[in-house]
Amino acid sequence: MSATMNASTEQAVADTVLTPRFYRTDFEAMDRLDMGPIRRQFDDLLEEFRADANRNFFERDPAFAQEIRELSPELKREFLDFLVSSITAEYSGCLLYGEIKKHATNPDVQTLFGYMARDEARHAGFINKSLRDFGVAVDLGFLQRTKKYTYFAPKFIFYATYLSEKIGYARYITMYRHLERHPDRRFHPIFRWFENWCNDEFRHGEAFALLMRADPRLLAGRNRLWIRFFLLAVYATMYVRDHSRHALHDAMGLDTDDYDYRVFHITSEISKQVFPFTLDVDRPAFRAGLARLSRLSRRASAAREERGVLGRLRGVLVQAGCGAASAFTFARLYAQPVVPNEIPAQVRLSPAW
Ligand SMILES: [Fe+2]
Ligand SMILES: [Fe+2]
Repeated sequence: MSATMNASTEQAVADTVLTPRFYRTDFEAMDRLDMGPIRRQFDDLLEEFRADANRNFFERDPAFAQEIRELSPELKREFLDFLVSSITAEYSGCLLYGEIKKHATNPDVQTLFGYMARDEARHAGFINKSLRDFGVAVDLGFLQRTKKYTYFAPKFIFYATYLSEKIGYARYITMYRHLERHPDRRFHPIFRWFENWCNDEFRHGEAFALLMRADPRLLAGRNRLWIRFFLLAVYATMYVRDHSRHALHDAMGLDTDDYDYRVFHITSEISKQVFPFTLDVDRPAFRAGLARLSRLSRRASAAREERGVLGRLRGVLVQAGCGAASAFTFARLYAQPVVPNEIPAQVRLSPAW
């Protein structure tokens, strides 16, 4: 690793179970996507992308600089962690969509992914300006060259990316609506941008919903098991990560648990547009399982901090124990009953939250 790499670039490069990843896929298979079955809705969507309502939106206004406040060290640490994981996710989308566009010969694929890469580049750039204010901008070029890429077959890209776009929308809109009601809790001006911003994410999610609907096999048979896996993995990752950021939510006046379940409800409601079931997030056993995953994750990170020979040895054993217990808890969550859903004929939704 470079000696001059700053802490946020280092955090963005690191891969853990909880951090956003960079992806590669089968570009030739992506190029063969056939929009025939969804042609009309697909063309409407491209029209929205072409209209580019957010063209001049990601610019700072004069009030921005005045709204930047001094943050307590704990809040600053968690806010930076939030910005760095957000920029990593945005940039991950930017690179993946950009690569799909670059390899494509199919004009539908080229156009769609070109627009989505454009949006994600704007999002990442806008976050990086705020990181720069703190003196810790992420070196995106370095990140692109250094971070490990995970290969996912196209169908896994669809499930994972669809969910991350929609959950991203739900997270941003829930924060935005809350801070709209409590402007005194808006400790940084970037949150004022979240409303139009999340409409971009919503539209990206719509694109993946259509792509999945173009090939109904992706939503049936054994693939239902994969959908279930991705739903649970995305929800559990968000829950565990958010529950390690209490200062951030406290500053906004949000209860972390309440915020997460609101986001799950919105995401589940939206995902009924394509997925044949939703997770039953209100089951007490489901909630207990997520809470247990979060406790195990905190215990494992405390063990990672152990010092001294015996301390480290104990730390390694505790971490291994937590890893096994987490895998078991995840498997039990996976086995819980889901709520069946009839997939509607019309796929497209408009943001209504
Ligand atoms: Fe984005
Ligand atoms: Fe997006």
